[in-house]
Amino acid sequence: MDKRIDLLEAIRSIAVKTPMNDIEVPEKVVGFGTIEYKAQTCSACKKCILACEPGALDMDSTLNMPDYVRATVPMEGFRSKNRETLVTLLQSLKQDYNFGDVLAVSVPEGLAGYGSIDWSAEQCIACEKCIEACPENCLTLKKVYKLPEIVGEIEAVPVKRTEKDWEPFIICFVCWECSHAAADLAGLMHLSYPATIRTVRIPCSGALEPIHIMTAMAQGADGVLVTGCLLHECHYGGDSPKAGNFMQYDFVKFWSDIFEEIGIGGRLYIDFASAAMGIKFAEIVETFTEQIRKLGPSPIPVKSEVQE
Ligand code: FES
Repeated sequence: MDKRIDLLEAIRSIAVKTPMNDIEVPEKVVGFGTIEYKAQTCSACKKCILACEPGALDMDSTLNMPDYVRATVPMEGFRSKNRETLVTLLQSLKQDYNFGDVLAVSVPEGLAGYGSIDWSAEQCIACEKCIEACPENCLTLKKVYKLPEIVGEIEAVPVKRTEKDWEPFIICFVCWECSHAAADLAGLMHLSYPATIRTVRIPCSGALEPIHIMTAMAQGADGVLVTGCLLHECHYGGDSPKAGNFMQYDFVKFWSDIFEEIGIGGRLYIDFASAAMGIKFAEIVETFTEQIRKLGPSPIPVKSEVQE
């Protein structure tokens, strides 16, 4: 999926340090997580591969021997007779047979019922269709985002931003219902908030995609502020847990953890205001600006600053 690959490229382009930890994916955040594969019960029927629209699964024509030696599933769990025989044989041998360095064996071309499923984190959209298609319950979605594996190692790039005359540059996304009206009201009330804030209108806070947040950071924002209607008052969902602002709240939490891991923690925040809350809106902006001021300029190098 191009969208997924663009997203990963964007994370890599704004990462300033190598992430060390996996990130928990909040329950409501869909599209992220890790497919876990239980090789022992797989009958290599390829139904998961056929069900996977983005092409994130493939058949690797090797058998990972330790997986089978360690198999603990009951024998009746094996759909393929051939595979059951293999596991029985390996398990009976394991007491007195040393497998030495043989960790995987190749499966000859055309030999059905063997092989291992390969999963690509870059392609997977965590739609769970492979899980539904698997007759052996070999696949599960774990709500963990394997960030170090996905982002890889980051090469430290020299940052040449000068602190002189620096003012925090913040992109503030406002929904075009309440938070936009609150921003307008703050202006009408002549409440001062920093001039270096740029507001960008979006239909609903829930419409904001991660790629927008990362594009803002990649293009020189020191911080990104997401605002929306008060919780329970989103114009797209109201009280529903699937309302735009509820969904975005969990999403921003997830994405803030990612920011922390890649070295730009504290630069993303979400808050809410009704149309009548001009004062609150100004306070949200002021507080976030102070936070960014303490953090200093974004460590993400803007390309023109490091090319000489
Ligand atoms: Fe304002 Fe959904 S319309 S957050």
